[in-house]
Parts: sequence; structure tokens; C-alpha cells
Amino acid sequence: MGWGVDSQGDRLATLDRDALRLCLAPLGEAQTLPGAAYNDPDVFEWERDTFFESSWMCLGRSSNLPTTGDHKAFRVGSETVLVVRDGGAINAFFNVCRHRGHELLETGTCANARALKCPYHGWVYGLDGSLKGAPRYSEIPGFDPAAHSLAPLRVQEWNGWIFVNASGDAPDFFDHCGNLDALTKDHECDRLVGVARHDYVVDANWKIVTENYHECYHCPQIHPELCRVTSPDSGTDDPSDGAWAGGSMDLFDHAVTMSMTGESGGKILRGLDASKSRKVYYYSLWPNLLISLHPDYVMTHRLEPLAADRTRIECEWLFPPEVVTEEFDPSYAVEFWDITNREDWGACESVQRGTASRAYSQGPLSMVEGTTHQFIAMVAAGYLQGAVVPAGDLVSGLL
Ligand code: FES
Ligand SMILES: [Fe+2]
Repeated sequence: MGWGVDSQGDRLATLDRDALRLCLAPLGEAQTLPGAAYNDPDVFEWERDTFFESSWMCLGRSSNLPTTGDHKAFRVGSETVLVVRDGGAINAFFNVCRHRGHELLETGTCANARALKCPYHGWVYGLDGSLKGAPRYSEIPGFDPAAHSLAPLRVQEWNGWIFVNASGDAPDFFDHCGNLDALTKDHECDRLVGVARHDYVVDANWKIVTENYHECYHCPQIHPELCRVTSPDSGTDDPSDGAWAGGSMDLFDHAVTMSMTGESGGKILRGLDASKSRKVYYYSLWPNLLISLHPDYVMTHRLEPLAADRTRIECEWLFPPEVVTEEFDPSYAVEFWDITNREDWGACESVQRGTASRAYSQGPLSMVEGTTHQFIAMVAAGYLQGAVVPAGDLVSGLL
């Protein structure tokens, strides 16, 4: 079997191996991804299997399901998944009834109930997935409810976010995130409270969104607000030994945080030292969570790839509980980033259109696009190897 060839044929046929190797060259020689990576529906289908279902997809904050019986259905690659609050635990199941396969809950919706009832014929499952009731099955001698529990997924809570692995064979979550666990510790994300959320649908491939997130080469052109509080030239990249990329930028002396004026309407996070409270950290955890750590709040973008050229983006702002009173106004952070987000989405949609042109060819990456290069290299190596390739594995043999 050749690369990318599987039971559904060679879905990566439009990606040229030599073109992908150009993405793995050292910065200064490295190129962007070929256009098919952003536009070919077959490549997108392949990514659903190999990049999303075989990895740890983020499904948002566990605090969004606060009460026992809360459950929500999410799309994970080509699957739909039911995430359930059961006391202190979060359980995850394939959203597939064990009777005839009806979905237990419509994807994207949430509900609360003491048990999970299939809307088709009324089979009832406990919050732990066990079959509790199947009308008329007492008539069948030997019918064993224990053999018909919902199919579970591996689920992991980390820093207050829920992650699931649909394929069942991803590496251990802490190997997946590697040293990002230590790098995010001081911001204590698990204790932060989600105060605001914006949902966007962007007509761009999910990778274009992440590539744009990781460079500030574009900032002087499209982000006048951002350039008033942070220098686009201040970026440094952090060495990664997991499936993530990222680094930090310095605030200007007059700025406490990222806001229109540089002033904060909150409080510096209690775990930060003098150095960390002067920086903003931008990390992408493969495949779909962008984590932006500010001195006084944390913003995330959770990407939900919908099609090769379409991505739903859930942007959430988290603050320490001690500032979240009834009077607290998060708009200093939300407005600033909503403006900046929209500037970015406009650029991403334009790039998407450009990559679909017959005139598009791989472009050269500049020396200030280091983490964008790291992400692109993870993608290209993933296509070449048919698996998720952590940044830590992108060693000289590959480059
Ligand atoms: S498909 Fe669920 S009860 Fe029949
Ligand atoms: Fe930007």
C-alpha cells in the first residue's frame, strides 16, 4: 500500500510528495503547503480520519456541562460524539443507539436528563452508558442488556478542557501535549471561568486559520489595534516536544494586556511572575485548540472543521473567579479580540480564495514565520507518514 492509500483509495493523490518535502526544509528554504491541502475534499476526508479522529479533539470547557445529566453532541471528524456529565466525571460515547443506530441527540445540541433516551424506540441508557431499559425486550429470552451499552470513547480533561480520541489508539494525552502542560501551568486555566463566547463561521480551511494565528508578519498590515499594545517583532518560539507549536510576544511598556488602550479591566493572574505577566503566549494544540494566555485572561479558539473551505470557530474568554462578579465587564478583552478576529478572518478567507486559484503555488516562508512553519511541517509530515507527527519528532532526519 502506498502513502495515503487506504480502503477508500488514495485520497491524498492530489498532494505531491516532493511538494510536501519543501514544507519540511529549514526556515529560509521552507515553502507553504500545496493548494490541494486547503481545497481538495478528499484530502479533507483523509484529515478527518487521520488528523482529527486519530488524535485528541478538544470539545470545549467541562464547565459548559456543569450539572449531572447535562449532555451535548459534538462532531468529531466524521463521527458524532455524546459527552455526558456524571457527577465529577465526564463520560464520552459514540452518539449511536445500540438498537438500530439512531442518534441519541442531534449534533450541536445539548440537554439535561437523568438518563439518555433514544428518540426512536425509547431505549434508555444510564449516564455511564449502560442499557437500563429496552421496551419489549423482556419477551426475548436471554437478552443481555450488559452487551448493549453505548460505545465509549477515551476522554481526558486537561486545564478545564475536554478532549476525546475517537479512534481509540492515539498516544497518551500527556505525551500528546508534552511540555505544553508545564508551559501553561502558571496560568492555572482549570480555575478560570468562561465569561464570554463568540461563534464565527469562516470560509477558510482550518489550517489557514492556524497558520495565520501563528505569525505576526501580517500584523502591521491588518491589525492597527494590536500593534498599539504589542510589537509585531517581539515574537519568540518555544521548543516543543509534543503535538503543539507556539511562543510568546512582549507587551509594550505602557500596556498591561491586550486591549484597545492596553489597560486591564481585570487582575493579573495570581500564578504569574514578573516576566510572565509582561508576555502573551500563543499556542496551538493539535489539531483544533488555539490557546492565547494573557497576563489577566485566557482566550481560546476552538476550531471545528466543517469542510475543506469552511471552519466553525468558537472563541471563548476566561477570567479568574475573583474578578467575575456581577459588575465585571469583560468587554475590554472581548471587543479588542473581536475586532482582531474579524480582521484575521477576512485575511484567511482571502487566502482561501487565493489557494484555489490556478495561479497559486507554494510560497516561501519568512524567518519570522517560525511557528507557522512548525505547524505546516507537522501537517506535511503527517501527510507523508499517514499519522499525526508531533513537533518534537520533526528532527533533522525529516527536515
Ligand atoms: S434506534 Fe434507538 S431505540 Fe431504536
Ligand atoms: Fe492576525
